[in-house]
Amino acid sequence: METMNEFVQAFNHFLTSSLDRLPNSNVREAMSYALVGEGKRFRPLLVYTSTGKDSFDSNLLTCASALEMIQTYSLIHDDMTCMDDDDYRRGRLTLHKQFDEATALLAGDGLLTYAFEMLIQSELNDNQKVQTIKWLSRAAGASGMVLGQDIDLLNEHNNQLSDAKLEELYRLKTGALFGCALVFGQIINQNYEQLQDYYELGLKLGFLFQIQDDYLETISDFKTLGKSVESDKKQQKSTYVSRYSLDYTKLKLDEGFSELKRDIINLRLNSQSMITLIEQVQNRNH
Ligand code: IPE
Ligand code: IPE
Ligand code: MG
Ligand code: MG
Repeated sequence: METMNEFVQAFNHFLTSSLDRLPNSNVREAMSYALVGEGKRFRPLLVYTSTGKDSFDSNLLTCASALEMIQTYSLIHDDMTCMDDDDYRRGRLTLHKQFDEATALLAGDGLLTYAFEMLIQSELNDNQKVQTIKWLSRAAGASGMVLGQDIDLLNEHNNQLSDAKLEELYRLKTGALFGCALVFGQIINQNYEQLQDYYELGLKLGFLFQIQDDYLETISDFKTLGKSVESDKKQQKSTYVSRYSLDYTKLKLDEGFSELKRDIINLRLNSQSMITLIEQVQNRNH
């Protein structure tokens, strides 16, 4: 059985060789710097575990890479001075600090575009290409992650944000890409039924993941997280932990993960690897 660790190794190797196909340039070097940092690769692992299979092939690695490129681009832009203004990411200097602002902008653009190019140039069949591009563009764009980032920025300094709006923000900025990951696993299996339900499940998981992100930023340290623990405070973000106690937040997380596990069983996604991955997410410390 090919384990999750083996998947991550193969995935990292695949990512590097995909970038090698681009012309050697400053922007490629910057894309590579951001991609090969110590990302946890949760979204690629979700694509893999959503298939429910023990093995993986180049189609799966392509879909997982496309998603990780979008995730990495979103982090590059998220860290820029005009957004969260952060100096560290994945345990090292953010891209605009290591290179410069213009290169960070272009590296994000390059990753965003290359994600779609990889899907088109893959050996997925035509329907799989249309479906993956449809779901990825929806999840990444102005009805998904980009919209979530917009709401996030517009509500800095706003401590009147309603719980419902905060939940929407988290589902969009973080959940949309998780939803796409679960959908990708199904498209790889050529199971086109209930794709919206898989997407919704990802929104829920992303919501919990983002609450954990706020929680960890409060209780953890720079070395463990590989990024600033002052960012939300500095930007006066509306977060789950800025409005609720840590105990209450932990309770909400426990309840949320229990409900999520029930949904996973209802959608018949409860392979051993999926259960293991969700438990890893629930117990994560970075
Ligand atoms: C960071 O995502 C941004 C959030 C959505 C909280 P991850 O915590 O998955 O970051 P990487 O990909 O492992 O660096
Ligand atoms: C990042 O959210 C979400 C995206 C990049 C889409 P945050 O700004 O809360 O995450 P960190 O703390 O910088 O990783
Ligand atoms: Mg942000
Ligand atoms: Mg940020």
